Amino acid sequence: MATRETAPGDQVHRGDPVVVDRYTTGARINHWITAASLVLLAISGLALFHPSLYWLTGLFGGGPNTRTIHPWIGVVLFFGFCGLFLRFWRLNLWERTDNVWLAKIRDVLSPNHEENLPEVGKYNAGQKIVFWSMSLLIIVLISSGVVIWDQYFGPYFTVEQKRIAVLVHATAAVIAICVWIVHVYAAIWVRGTISAMTRGRVTGGWAWRHHRRWLRELVTGEPRKTDTTGATPAR
Ligand code: HEM
Repeated sequence: MATRETAPGDQVHRGDPVVVDRYTTGARINHWITAASLVLLAISGLALFHPSLYWLTGLFGGGPNTRTIHPWIGVVLFFGFCGLFLRFWRLNLWERTDNVWLAKIRDVLSPNHEENLPEVGKYNAGQKIVFWSMSLLIIVLISSGVVIWDQYFGPYFTVEQKRIAVLVHATAAVIAICVWIVHVYAAIWVRGTISAMTRGRVTGGWAWRHHRRWLRELVTGEPRKTDTTGATPAR
């Protein structure tokens, strides 16, 4: 909800920054647990992946400990992401305006060209692509991970199946790390975004500039269920 940053009883002065709530505390805790587990998985996974990175196992108490801990962090990532998925999948459904936004990607990447873009809801097409790619990759990572989790599932799979799973697991992990880099880069590149996930709030200016339809819907209290109008140039 859009509010002015004041304590109860304070007078609202002209020039007080308008702040807009974007994430609840629960959503932020869920996000940061998921984020921390992906970082720990990447480090422990890389440590086990190549002998030149084996020294990283020192961070987890040595090789055998890393081998034991890595899959469990994977379980945390999986359930953490399930939480995010349940919270956000609806808002990441593809709409016709997302195609228009993508077709105008040059305007997205050029500074001060936002006015050529359609009005964006809570998430833009780039964020939606990251969301659905991560969803798919995490399913592939957990399923292939189970096949190579010898401690518990060793007897259930053949050597051939495990070989294929190792390849699939490593490939999905590399792609997931690339998608994660894109996600973090975009969060830093679009100034004012990080506070959405740290404090749960953004400025009104940020919302107007980058997610105008979402802001309008918040102000009018009428979320648009489906997007049938195609491109709506920002005014
Ligand atoms: C560790 C570094 C990370 C940083 C700095 C970061 C930062 C952020 C920020 C600032 C937002 C808010 C964007 C907005 O509201 O417009 C966000 C949203 C989100 N992040 Fe992250 N994130 C990180 C890692 C991750 C990881 C590892 C995942 C998943 C595996 C993830 C999944 C999400 C999801 C699902 C959203 C909601 C946006 C959507 O549904 O498209 N994040 N992140």
